[in-house]
Amino acid sequence: MTNLILNEKPIHTEENPGLTLLEFVRDISCLSGTKDACREGECGACTVLVGSRQADGSVAYKACASCLLPLGDIDGCHVVTVEGLGAEPLTLVQRLIVEHSASQCGFCTPGIVLSLTGFALGSATLSYEDAVNALDGNICRCTGYASIRNAARALCEALGKIDKAPGRRLEQLVAAGVLPRYFLSIPGRLAGQVAPAAGGKTAVLVAGGTDLLVQKPEQLLESELCFLSRRRDLDYVREDKGLLRVGGAVTIEDFRNSAAVQRHFPALTADLLLHSSAILRNKATLAGNIVNASPIGDATIILLALGANLTITGENGKKREIPLDKFYLGYKKTDLACGELVSEISFPLPPKGARYNFEKVSNRTILDIAAANSALLLAAGPDGAVTALRVSAGGVGPVPMLLPGLEKLHGRKPDAAFFQDLAAAALAAAKPIDDIRGSAEYKRLLLGQLMLAHGRALAPAEAA
Ligand SMILES: Cc1cc2nc3c(=O)[nH]c(=O)nc-3n(C[C@H](O)[C@H](O)[C@H](O)COP(=O)(O)OP(=O)(O)OC[C@H]3O[C@@H](n4cnc5c(N)ncnc54)[C@H](O)[C@@H]3O)c2cc1C
Ligand code: FES
Ligand code: FES
Repeated sequence: MTNLILNEKPIHTEENPGLTLLEFVRDISCLSGTKDACREGECGACTVLVGSRQADGSVAYKACASCLLPLGDIDGCHVVTVEGLGAEPLTLVQRLIVEHSASQCGFCTPGIVLSLTGFALGSATLSYEDAVNALDGNICRCTGYASIRNAARALCEALGKIDKAPGRRLEQLVAAGVLPRYFLSIPGRLAGQVAPAAGGKTAVLVAGGTDLLVQKPEQLLESELCFLSRRRDLDYVREDKGLLRVGGAVTIEDFRNSAAVQRHFPALTADLLLHSSAILRNKATLAGNIVNASPIGDATIILLALGANLTITGENGKKREIPLDKFYLGYKKTDLACGELVSEISFPLPPKGARYNFEKVSNRTILDIAAANSALLLAAGPDGAVTALRVSAGGVGPVPMLLPGLEKLHGRKPDAAFFQDLAAAALAAAKPIDDIRGSAEYKRLLLGQLMLAHGRALAPAEAA
């Protein structure tokens, strides 16, 4: 049984928990405002808001792609489709879309309205930059993004003076006409609805589902499912004795926006914007990115350079640790036994003065999988000579790689010759193959260029 509130209406359904929320909303609940297009998280036409009750009793809303969201995952949540915003009167976001001519055929418009409403609910700063980032998964074929951005800018201006304290956000947005009044009753109505995670040893672990629902949608319909979003004990980002510890259920967006990342790795806040899009990052997890074992997983490539370790918990609660670079046994093969899960990802806080950089090559800047990617973490002594160096590379072998044998570069200044030698070491280790993202030869070329790009990003004068 899945219990939720769909717009204003309580729902108790026995539908298959592996059914997508998109199918449930359109085909079973007959709410056709949510559009059905790519079904692969690529367009944003199916965007809805999912509000989940937090430990303090508040409800946190996130814009999500409903085509990649299993119904069982939203048990105990408030789901808002465009019908739940109401049509008379229009909400502030809807009105600004009209006033700025930000809709033509209208197919993308419900998704854009919900992404902007999600921005109004969730952005700490309510900045224009955040508003544009919130729209990075919403594709419009006919209006042109300038008018959509104008509407977003007008929204930020209209909300500029509201009290930004998270505890007052709902009432402020109701007063500003962004949300209908019934939202105020939702926190009380959701109380006590969250079910614990269930599932035996053979249950399929579903984290964000953004990979599973693209790769194995039928498996979700036929298997017992264990939804990790219900594991509140795995939802944390905390500093602990020089380590950053991230629970196995933390989403990429929550990690990106966490206080610890903002304090210690502000660069990651920008780099992780290159991972998929906001409506996917709001569900997709770091652990899911690691376990899906894609040779070009962006978060995985970053974590390899940062020296991440995984804590793996077995069915009996027994824990073991493994360095991330030892986790991959071959193409899509990991050191994870049946019944085990990645319960924590941890990595050392970088030493003072350490330099970090991430590079990704893809056809589009946003919402695209890499052809090749790489991250680098470098520490140098007071004389500027390199004392530690970790460099990862994706898309150039069967698994995400940590480049071996870089100790020979220790003791040298990170100048142009250093990065040339790094490129040579990377090319010696790489084993790319021809695939849909490019030929082996192209990827070798990219890999060499990525190493030189690290040099230009970290030491522009020396590496020129
Ligand atoms: C449109 C689109 C764009 C994308 N863009 C990018 C991109 O730019 N960069 C990128 O790297 N990826 C991208 N992806 C791939 C995918 O979204 C990411 O890899 C994502 O991080 C997967 O996380 P998830 O939580 O959704 O995983 P899920 O789909 O829930 O799970 C993936 C696998 O990991 C297992 N699993 C999940 N969590 C755990 C755990 N804690 N312990 C053990 N097993 C676990 C699941 O059982 C499953 O086998 C994209 C996907 C789509 C559909
Ligand atoms: S239908 Fe395209 S993102 Fe869901
Ligand atoms: S208005 Fe037609 S796709 Fe956006």
